[in-house]
Amino acid sequence: MPQSKTVPKTGLLSESSRAEIDRWIAKYPPDRKQAAVIAALSIAQEQNGGWLSVELIEAVAEYLEMPPIAAHEVATFYTMYDLKPVGRHKVCVCTNISCQLNGSSWIMNHIQKRLGIKPGETTTGGEFTLKEVECLAACGGAPMMMIGKNYYENLTPERVDEILDKLE
Ligand code: FES
Repeated sequence: MPQSKTVPKTGLLSESSRAEIDRWIAKYPPDRKQAAVIAALSIAQEQNGGWLSVELIEAVAEYLEMPPIAAHEVATFYTMYDLKPVGRHKVCVCTNISCQLNGSSWIMNHIQKRLGIKPGETTTGGEFTLKEVECLAACGGAPMMMIGKNYYENLTPERVDEILDKLE
């Protein structure tokens, strides 16, 4: 019976992604490379326009010498990873308790109306993806959202409009 060949996937990670992952690996003991998986998946996701394909998750697993299933478990557990293509801007609205008590549903409804999409969807032109997320540790500025790596706090519908106007 012919042997099935496994094609190495590490090559899917760009040179700069690998260099960045190496910096994370160096923070852990040599036999604990897989401890860098959360950072490595984030780096791979950023390289890929904001989402992780199955192949890319497996490339990370291969690079960290860990079972692919373990990398899939991490990628599917945390909401910060997206497993399908996303828009150019990910609008992540926190709806956890502090934000909820301070009006996150009001903010979420406003954004849904403005963009014409529901959480988990992307605008037709591929500009925005809307996500409902858990606490982002900025409860003091509730209600808040994160777009890219930026936090926007003490939101009102007017403030949301100002922020989105600048991104469109
Ligand atoms: S509850 Fe929204 S940032 Fe903590």
